[in-house]
Amino acid sequence: MADRPKVAALIVAAGKGERAGGVIPKQYREIGGNSVLFLAAKALLGHPAVDRAQVVIGEGQREAYETAVMGLSLPAPIIGGETRQQSVRNGLEALAATESPDIVLIHDAARPDTPPAVIDRLLSGLGAHIGAIPALPVTDSLARTDGSTVDRSAFVSIQTPQAFRFEAILAAHRSWSGAEPATDDAAIARAAGHEIALIEGDAALRKLTFAEDFAMSAAGPTPFPPVR
Ligand code: CTP
Ligand code: MG
Repeated sequence: MADRPKVAALIVAAGKGERAGGVIPKQYREIGGNSVLFLAAKALLGHPAVDRAQVVIGEGQREAYETAVMGLSLPAPIIGGETRQQSVRNGLEALAATESPDIVLIHDAARPDTPPAVIDRLLSGLGAHIGAIPALPVTDSLARTDGSTVDRSAFVSIQTPQAFRFEAILAAHRSWSGAEPATDDAAIARAAGHEIALIEGDAALRKLTFAEDFAMSAAGPTPFPPVR
């Protein structure tokens, strides 16, 4: 039997959380007694296919980080950059400099709940593709800012974790030449010519972005009620 692939989770937590406000960045705030980052990391590390996790944090966030991840088995954090893309890049380079995994799950620290079935689907999606990403249909009507509506069935909303063959996503990041930073890693993989599999996402993966998102998740680690 072939060896099981080595899977690493790369969790980016180097943002400032400006839209959420508050005294400390959103990923270090608590919901239901644990930090958002703790929950995000625990959900990934709890999956039997995930071997290890690496977190990327911002300059000056070391203290908040140590408090937030107490009790988890994690290596020293890597320092991120000005943009999410740079933070991911720093994390990928750090993984490459230690022991490169076969597969990397790139994840936002601001998404505290990843159901195990999503990781199962992502890893299955990698069977035939370089990358697999969770997507959900858009349920609200969509319009351009000038007011004209567009056909929402042509769009999906994209979540994390996003799964990639490690060497391919590392090479794609190194060769990126876009003028603006990409908002996710699937865009970077596509720019390098890779076709990405869309797998079914989950409402639980939604990102904590605004202060109201915390109020909604006060009852526990599942940040949103299920979408009906
Ligand atoms: N992130 C990062 N490095 C950055 C910017 C963002 O690691 N320079 C991370 C955030 O910590 C978060 C994820 O990328 O886990 C998604 O970004 P977002 O939701 O935009 O978080 P922030 O950038 O922190 O929030 P805001 O844009 O409201 O300031
Ligand atoms: Mg941001």
